[in-house]
Amino acid sequence: MSESAGQRRSGRGRFITFEGGEGTGKSTQIKKLADRLKAARMRTLVTREPGGSPGAEIMRHLVLSGMGKLLGPDAETLLFAAARDDHVRTVIAPALSHGTWVLCDRFADSTRAYQGSLGSVPAGLINAMQRVTIGDLKPDLTIILDLPVEIGLQRAAARRGSGTPDRFEGEQLSFHQGLREAYRKIAAEEPARCVLIDANSDPDTVAGRVWAALRDRLLPTPASAVSA
Ligand code: TYD
Repeated sequence: MSESAGQRRSGRGRFITFEGGEGTGKSTQIKKLADRLKAARMRTLVTREPGGSPGAEIMRHLVLSGMGKLLGPDAETLLFAAARDDHVRTVIAPALSHGTWVLCDRFADSTRAYQGSLGSVPAGLINAMQRVTIGDLKPDLTIILDLPVEIGLQRAAARRGSGTPDRFEGEQLSFHQGLREAYRKIAAEEPARCVLIDANSDPDTVAGRVWAALRDRLLPTPASAVSA
């Protein structure tokens, strides 16, 4: 790839989000993609939600410790929204405007899946918060990693070792099955933005699928790069 062809074409970076249930391998895949983009001399930033900025990391601690749950589903959703607002304003939007490609571990689809479909928070409230926090900032590409729930939970338990499950890992199996369905529905509803990727293979094979999705959707073909 020529140096920063995508960056030169529009100046703005690309915003790529990774979504999926517990243990689907998002962080492994983000790292692999970031390494590949950096090797191609693309300016790349890896970040995550909840968190990604100093203010949002404080809210991450609140929600993952289970304190947000005590406040009830609507208020817990507001905490995720407040964290996202800070993260978008202070980290994501400035990076994109400087031409950096931003890879984010979870974003607004997590709220739609976890709090909306599973937590029964009304869609109207989620949409209203989304308008306030992200406005019209939409990911250019959302990779949804799809894996049978039992395998994902086994992977998450192995990663955790003797530590206690966090707020969402500790939910029932039916919650995690519902989560997988919620993500599959998002992928089906927004095929122009989302790609559902089979994550039930070794990490390098999955990374190949992620790269193919990115190449097909976001990288200019040699012909269009020449004519640009
Ligand atoms: P994390 O330890 O980052 O888990 P994972 O490796 O699965 O991404 O924990 C983040 C948890 O927060 C995860 O269980 C999903 C949940 N979450 C929501 O419920 N709503 C949201 O909007 C976001 C961003 C995350």
